[in-house]
Amino acid sequence: MYILTGPSGVFVIDPSVSPKAAEDYCNLPGLASGECPVKAILLTHGHHDHIKYVNSWISAYPSAGVFFSSNDRELIKNAFMNCSYMEGSETVYDFKFSDLAGTYGQNIYKDDSMEIRTFETPGHTMGSVCFLVNLSGEEMLFTGDTVFKGSVGRTDMPGGSSKILAESIRRIAKLDPGLRIYPGHGPESTIGYEIRFNPFFSL
Ligand SMILES: [Fe+2]
Repeated sequence: MYILTGPSGVFVIDPSVSPKAAEDYCNLPGLASGECPVKAILLTHGHHDHIKYVNSWISAYPSAGVFFSSNDRELIKNAFMNCSYMEGSETVYDFKFSDLAGTYGQNIYKDDSMEIRTFETPGHTMGSVCFLVNLSGEEMLFTGDTVFKGSVGRTDMPGGSSKILAESIRRIAKLDPGLRIYPGHGPESTIGYEIRFNPFFSL
């Protein structure tokens, strides 16, 4: 999970912890009570470990935009497909969202200090999305479970496809080599580093 704070407000990527836990960890008073200006809740894909607190965030910030691909709609409705069963729960989700299916470079948010573009990058799941964020001039790509430093997300779970993921990686590899990436798990990297050292960028 990432929380971005800028002059225009707060942006939440993959709400896998509660608003209260995020408030304490990030020292953002008022986050849990709905007093922070949370503008958007961005979901990279429908796996439980990335969205398990989405309903808490939507309840606290009902006016925030929720962005998600409908290509993962079946995942969130099925405890086996969203992998919540792997954590011993049987959780299904039903929330309204702006659909990112088929987006590739579309601008979904823009104000004076923040710009967000989305790239649907299927493979880990069919609705996996990367978010290209420009926050006060600093550009960064949030890759969810599509790209990790030196690796990629697994494709052996429902909806996964190594062939389709390879196509998505080839498209990501065309982005600026200097672009910093922030995966859903593990350390940050850059596109250039991945082109050089990630074997999945050579397929
Ligand atoms: Fe995942």
